[in-house]
Amino acid sequence: MKNMQFHLLAAALAGTFAMAGTARAADAGDVAEGMRLFMQKGNCQACHGWAGDGRKTDNQMPDGANLRETKLDRKTFVMIVKCGLPGTGMPPFDRLAYSDGRCFGKKEADLRTQGIKMADPPATLQPREVELLADFAFEKMVGKGPMDKAKCADYWGGESEVCREIK
Ligand code: HEC
Repeated sequence: MKNMQFHLLAAALAGTFAMAGTARAADAGDVAEGMRLFMQKGNCQACHGWAGDGRKTDNQMPDGANLRETKLDRKTFVMIVKCGLPGTGMPPFDRLAYSDGRCFGKKEADLRTQGIKMADPPATLQPREVELLADFAFEKMVGKGPMDKAKCADYWGGESEVCREIK
């Protein structure tokens, strides 16, 4: 009967976490897909650096936040990716972000009257893609501290060229 108790406890905990919008066990395939979105389609790395620490190679791009040190919870992270951050260089990735008030209750016209111009995202992302990005970010980046050799090898799935320059 001990097993039964643990099942109930796990279910209760999972329910709590799901409601809080945090630690949902991320599937390895989802994490890998999220990483691809970060590097390629979303091109987050252009502004946030490949490690998410804000150390980017292209100085023409806006300085993205250090996502390894961010204190955001998952729900807020997802919202910021969809809606961007008005007044900064963080673009909104939801195609409908400022169409119907879903982002901070504002529409395009409201942004215009307030003189806020938001950057176009490299590509728009589906809600599902934003969840995959969050799976990746919370598994490999957020709260993980500075990149080091061991983390780098894990990140790229083995020895990688970029890891050589890391102490
Ligand atoms: C064109 C540059 C650019 C791109 C592309 C970009 N960001 Fe950002 N991002 C920024 C800037 C600039 C900020 C705000 C920095 C600041 O606080 O001044 C930011 C902030 C954030 C924040 C808030 C962090 C915090 O602690 O407040 C999150 C989360 C984030 N970006 C995630 C992403 C993700 C995920 C992607 C890819 C889907 C992405 N960003 C793509 C420039 C960019």
